[in-house]
Amino acid sequence: MPQSPPAAGMRPQGPVLAMPTPSLRTCLWAGRARRLDGAMTRTLDASSRMYADARRYLAGGVSSDARRVDGVPLFVDHAKGSRLWDVDGNEYVDYVLGQGPSVLGHCPPEVVEAVAAQAARGMAYSAQHAAEVRVAERLCALVPSAGRVRFNTVGSEAVHAALRLARGYTGREAILKFEGHYHGWLDPVLFSVHPALDAAGPADAPAAVPGTAGQQLGRPDDLVVCPWNDVPALRRLMEEHAGRLAAVIMEPVLCNTGAIEPDSGYLEEVQHLCREHGTLLIFDEIITGFRLAPGGAQEHLGVTPDLSVFGKAMAGGMQVSALVGRADVMDHISTGKVAHAGTFNSHPVGIAAAEATLRVLDERRDEVYGTLYARGAELMEGLRSAAAKAGVPMLVDGPGPVFQTYVTEASSVRNYRDFATTDRAAMTRLHAALLDRGVNMVPRGLWFMSSAHTEADVAFTVDAFADALGTL
Ligand SMILES: Cc1ncc(COP(=O)(O)O)c(C=O)c1O
Repeated sequence: MPQSPPAAGMRPQGPVLAMPTPSLRTCLWAGRARRLDGAMTRTLDASSRMYADARRYLAGGVSSDARRVDGVPLFVDHAKGSRLWDVDGNEYVDYVLGQGPSVLGHCPPEVVEAVAAQAARGMAYSAQHAAEVRVAERLCALVPSAGRVRFNTVGSEAVHAALRLARGYTGREAILKFEGHYHGWLDPVLFSVHPALDAAGPADAPAAVPGTAGQQLGRPDDLVVCPWNDVPALRRLMEEHAGRLAAVIMEPVLCNTGAIEPDSGYLEEVQHLCREHGTLLIFDEIITGFRLAPGGAQEHLGVTPDLSVFGKAMAGGMQVSALVGRADVMDHISTGKVAHAGTFNSHPVGIAAAEATLRVLDERRDEVYGTLYARGAELMEGLRSAAAKAGVPMLVDGPGPVFQTYVTEASSVRNYRDFATTDRAAMTRLHAALLDRGVNMVPRGLWFMSSAHTEADVAFTVDAFADALGTL
């Protein structure tokens, strides 16, 4: 297992033309080799055998559609800090981080200790316990929109709770979502995430395109789809549906279609329109929460929604989500008017992880967020220069703790239609080439930073990226 740099004599031999010399590279590229045609290869014998077995027992060989890739999916053996190791012993600098949760890196000691200690005291109470009150109190202190809290397990559930609450509070049925935004895999919102353009309708009045066969479509008017970063379109659609919209839901920084920040003043306009129409504004902070700031994108961008949902980074790698919001709205749950339940809600082990994670994020905020932003900016700059040097048209954009690489000539990407013009097939090839070189990013070109990423990780990644660009 290449967990520490192997001695020079242990480097792969055979058809290796040029192995780089720095020790981190030697370590990460052990087990990989450059073929005579210049391509990098990884040994994936164990992974391939496991995948063949997996396909016999797991539908499609995976447990989430997000893990389907061309070729053999990553079979992880273990992870630590900024690194992953697969079952073949290949080591990767990891920018997927469990699709975002591991904001402190894999296995932060504070979280591991808290989880182990709680597991020994009981794993499933389905009853009240002290830590959930402490975590709710900290959420109310950290998150601008949090007057009251309810816990769930995963993001999709928290979104479901938020939408039901918005309907129960307003007595209205319809929801407005934005094209390109993802709010989980449940039927009411799995529309128009990455729709085929020939089905997507006009850019300023997109069609609601279902995401899957078998989806319950609901009544056509219950879901309105709007282009993002477009105030006139939102104004027009809200007027068209006046008196019907319970909520407008959005990712306040769009991270499921590139990593797109709202235009200056956009969120304020959305908030203003929502207030004018008596519609609740919901921020889906499943990705941005605790990643952009201890109070999420709403703290970072200075706009406070009525309701918000959190998940992923809030428990440092364990599965906890939360619905938070204005006390008078959340009171519809307090009184039992709007139903909210779940066997695993405020799961003691998950809550222990959340308590430890939030303590670190709050008490060491300068160090953690300083690293997330500085390291993210360094990596973005390195990738930009590598692309410029290689002559590959590329846009590297986003806040830093999360960002996107796009293969495109465009100088900005502001919404789904812009994203759809980028060369997504090239990004998929780049993803595969990076895996061969010891770098794991989200296949669509998204990069998550953690406070465990080091300057050496960044330097290694930029070198690997420069090399991988040669394959495009
Ligand atoms: C913005 C956003 N909302 C909701 C979800 C759904 O969360 P989960 O996969 O935990 O159900 C995701 C998942 O990636 C997400 O990115």
